[in-house]
Amino acid sequence: MSAPIDATATSAWAQLDAHRASFTPDLRGWFAQDPDRARRLSLAVADLHVDLSKNLVTDEILASLVLLAEQTGVAERYAAMLAGEHINTTEDRAVLHTALRRLSDATPALTVDGQDVDHDVQAVLDAMGAFADRVRSGQWEGITGKTVTHVVNIGIGGSDLGPAMIFEALKPYADAGIQARFVSNIDPADIALKTADLDPETTLFVVASKTFTTLETLTNARLARDWLWSGLEHAGAIGEDESSRTDAVAHHFVAVSTALDKVAAFGIDPANAFGFWDWVGGRYSVDSAIGLSLAITLGPDAFRELLAGFHAVDEHVRMTPLAENVPVIMGLLNIWYTNFLGAQTHAVLPYAQQLHRFAAYLQQLTMESNGKSVRWDGSPVTTGTGEIFWGEPGTNGQHAFYQLIHQGTRLIPADFIAFANPAYPLATDGRDVHGLFLANFLAQTKALAFGKTAAEVEAEGTTGPLVAARTFAGNRPTTSIFAPALTPRVLGELVALYEHITFTQGVVWGINSFDQWGVELGKQLALQIAPALEGDESAFAEQDASTRALLEYYREHRSH
Ligand code: F6P
Repeated sequence: MSAPIDATATSAWAQLDAHRASFTPDLRGWFAQDPDRARRLSLAVADLHVDLSKNLVTDEILASLVLLAEQTGVAERYAAMLAGEHINTTEDRAVLHTALRRLSDATPALTVDGQDVDHDVQAVLDAMGAFADRVRSGQWEGITGKTVTHVVNIGIGGSDLGPAMIFEALKPYADAGIQARFVSNIDPADIALKTADLDPETTLFVVASKTFTTLETLTNARLARDWLWSGLEHAGAIGEDESSRTDAVAHHFVAVSTALDKVAAFGIDPANAFGFWDWVGGRYSVDSAIGLSLAITLGPDAFRELLAGFHAVDEHVRMTPLAENVPVIMGLLNIWYTNFLGAQTHAVLPYAQQLHRFAAYLQQLTMESNGKSVRWDGSPVTTGTGEIFWGEPGTNGQHAFYQLIHQGTRLIPADFIAFANPAYPLATDGRDVHGLFLANFLAQTKALAFGKTAAEVEAEGTTGPLVAARTFAGNRPTTSIFAPALTPRVLGELVALYEHITFTQGVVWGINSFDQWGVELGKQLALQIAPALEGDESAFAEQDASTRALLEYYREHRSH
């Protein structure tokens, strides 16, 4: 594996430093001088129209950013990833989520580490589709012969956020009368609330865990099994004997994992388990069997459409020169803002209520990938990495935190995402509500870019100190991502777009974006501390003074 190239030692970095030193952002001036700016800086990737024109860049800055991608080997590393090289160095693994959405007849076939990847991917997709069809058609029955009305996905992180976000986004496509719910938190309130109104006889649990060792997921799976048994026993549907219970699990539990032996050890029939492979990272796994709850609720065709959307963007990245490569340019813009203009965060603001879990999904994708301080050869990073991603759907955010984006002291680059067609075309008072909604998306990006000068405020009759309070500086950068409608294909495109933005930033920083060692310490410590909460005095004595004091508080206040 080649050593990472130090981006800060490249001539492109020096050029960017010089641009920063002589740089005065002036979106009003740039648009006035160049009437073609919006057209020139609007690019297409599959069905997505991406308007980059309201970013704080000149053509010269963009050229230096593209040079930076060339000099840090972004294209070469993408090719290495597609070819199955072990670019996940700390886990010695290939990184092949792009293989999950290759076409069934892709040529040449992809073989990696002796595995016929295309064949295996298609076999699992076929099995998922066949199973989903059985559940959707009512051929798959619960133990009492009733059909499934609810699928409860039990997983966390990448085994939860992707399916949960996509189910919420594509709910209008749930056409088989089956709803999905998602249990992730080990806080027992999560499973208690999500199952409170469910009927065990019509509930199917999907236990989703890449490793099948995750404490939260296995604990919730056991709680779900207890809930199923006690509900069925209470209804007189099964007895308390071992064989009735095994039978109940066979009818109401399936699993998704790379560790099918552990699935069997939990008591789920391997015939009802769907596999994937260690070269799929958790946060890149929604397009693997981890999407089973989506294939069931939205249908196998919609799931394949989702994959087709991912693939279209993969192909764009593979085939398009860096200077027109949309995810690469968006990743480079993030480098510009983070490393040269001092941005600490990045807002993602979908004008689509159905995307209300999109920011949460992106947080794992971006921050678990690029929140690193060492490079892929173990050496320290040479510059800041991993900005904080956050967001909420518009227009809700407008009435909450946009104030700070418009008039605060921080630079917050923001992506606005909108769709020309609504999922629910409602009108009132003779007005199309979606039009009113989109007017807000357009108004916000306009206000952020161009602001409002003191002279404009005064021209409206405002005087005195209020003038300053009502002035907007403008030059707040945004990218507008517009698509025809929120369909499975378009959503696949959107997710793949952000996957490749994340990848580009990781390569420039020299980071392995595919491991996540930073979550391990907390997991280990939780296992060491848990006995202290259960009364183990030696585990209590081992803790630091602050943790002991908190444990004492717990002991004093826990009522039973
Ligand atoms: O703890 C972090 C993590 O490993 C994520 O990367 C992963 O998506 C999540 O836990 C769940 O892991 P698993 O699918 O193995 O249960």
